[in-house]
Amino acid sequence: MLELVSNTTEETMQIGERLGELAKAGDCIVLMGDLGAGKTQFAKGFACGMGVNDDVTSPTFPIVLEYIGEELPLLHFDLYRLDEYEELDDIDFDGMLESGGVSLVEWGDKFPDAMPDERLDISILIQDDESRVVRVEGYGARGAEFEHVLASNR
Ligand SMILES: Nc1ncnc2c1ncn2[C@@H]1O[C@H](COP(=O)(O)OP(=O)(O)OP(=O)(O)O)[C@@H](O)[C@H]1O
Ligand SMILES: [Mg+2]
Repeated sequence: MLELVSNTTEETMQIGERLGELAKAGDCIVLMGDLGAGKTQFAKGFACGMGVNDDVTSPTFPIVLEYIGEELPLLHFDLYRLDEYEELDDIDFDGMLESGGVSLVEWGDKFPDAMPDERLDISILIQDDESRVVRVEGYGARGAEFEHVLASNR
């Protein structure tokens, strides 16, 4: 686990961008944190790092939006409005994760049992002074790789 401090929206986007540059097919990044913490801002930066040219917005309706990166597609999910695991089956969540793109999942922590074993968890915590702590926790070999790169070129 490592923690980075972000004092501005741009800094959060930059953290996302660095990770987006590392993305490989099948990667899953789970974004968690309160409403307005900065998950979508992180996603914008991440998409930029993947070479997505379109503006990334919140996909609350409809749950998932797909973008075309330079080398890979990006699937941006927002599970905030879902309540049941069944609803993940309805959108074939597992199938989409395995479709060869890169997945970013806002509010994935609502469905812990549906998150893959190999993943990177990003928790954005709003501090009293409005800065953010960005907590990064990798699971599995890919998660460890992401953490390692972030830790080594801070
Ligand atoms: N250090 C910071 N990092 C990220 N966002 C920040 C920061 N400081 C201020 N903000 C502001 O906080 C808001 C974050 O909004 P954003 O849509 O990214 O949140 P979210 O976590 O996706 O919320 P939701 O759960 O509603 O989807 C933006 O208006 C952004 O400009
Ligand atoms: Mg959001």
